[in-house]
Amino acid sequence: MHKNNIEVYTLIKSEVQKLRRVGIETANLDCRLLLSKSLNTNKTLYNHEFINITENEINNFKNLIEKRLSGKPVSRIINKRNFWKNEFKLNEETLDPRSDSETLIDTVLTHFTDKLQSLKILDLGSGSGCLGLSLLDEYQNSTVSFLDTSQKSLEIVKINSFNFGLSDRSKLIHLDWRNENWDIKLFEIENETKFDILISNPPYIPTFDIQNLQKEVKEYDPFVALNGGKDGLEAYKLIIPKLRNIIKKNGKIFFEIGKGQENFVSSEAMEHGLFPIEYKKDLSGVIRVIVFIFK
Ligand SMILES: C[S@@+](CC[C@H](N)C(=O)[O-])C[C@H]1O[C@@H](n2cnc3c(N)ncnc32)[C@H](O)[C@@H]1O
Repeated sequence: MHKNNIEVYTLIKSEVQKLRRVGIETANLDCRLLLSKSLNTNKTLYNHEFINITENEINNFKNLIEKRLSGKPVSRIINKRNFWKNEFKLNEETLDPRSDSETLIDTVLTHFTDKLQSLKILDLGSGSGCLGLSLLDEYQNSTVSFLDTSQKSLEIVKINSFNFGLSDRSKLIHLDWRNENWDIKLFEIENETKFDILISNPPYIPTFDIQNLQKEVKEYDPFVALNGGKDGLEAYKLIIPKLRNIIKKNGKIFFEIGKGQENFVSSEAMEHGLFPIEYKKDLSGVIRVIVFIFK
């Protein structure tokens, strides 16, 4: 098939302008990512490089631009997102990982400085596996159990863990923390061994607020990954009372929280014998992660 040899910028210029006109600030980057997708490559494309491209591939690129113009995020069109040090595959049942959640990885690293220690970690509500797999990458002798109510998201964890060479140290667990005895079931699955670390970024948006979120979030992130119930705090209320049954006495608990939720989550945790030892802010200065130990 005939290939045109053309400069990337010449090819994408009019599409960049279309995206800019509808207010997409990352128009140039989005176009280059979508062009890579239509060329079926993972390579970063630069504005001033020349590429060989067929008419079919150009049409395919224009179709992807139409999807972007309709409000679909690039990460959902290409089904991947960079997080921490890796590129994670996504599907329609995984949350699109947020860079704010990298605060949680940072925090764990400051609490567990020996990278060679063998830690047993639980990633509760694992989505794409971005949190647990990033920690497995950092701690070479550790294991992570990924727990989620979405079977389809666990399938993506399986693929990501395989792609990163981490499947031997990953365990997938399909459970729902709304079930009365989920902690007992988990303890059984883990051969009655408790965890050293809990990491969790549970859904924490109040149900009513979801309709007011940006289109890219409310229409493309799964409801189950966003919905924190009436006050946004339902998951914490269900998880916290069970922690003593699944986390070691000297273990540490790392919760991601939504803006302004620190007082509630702390007092709920203190009622159940936990003590907050750190409040960590994200890059925007919002308290994003709380670290708890048992009193
Ligand atoms: C906010 S997302 C976080 C995903 C991922 N850890 C991240 O940081 O990108 C919350 C996750 O919790 C899962 N989840 C929601 N309700 C759950 C429940 N009742 N039991 C188990 N997992 C649940 C969702 O499927 C989703 O993957």
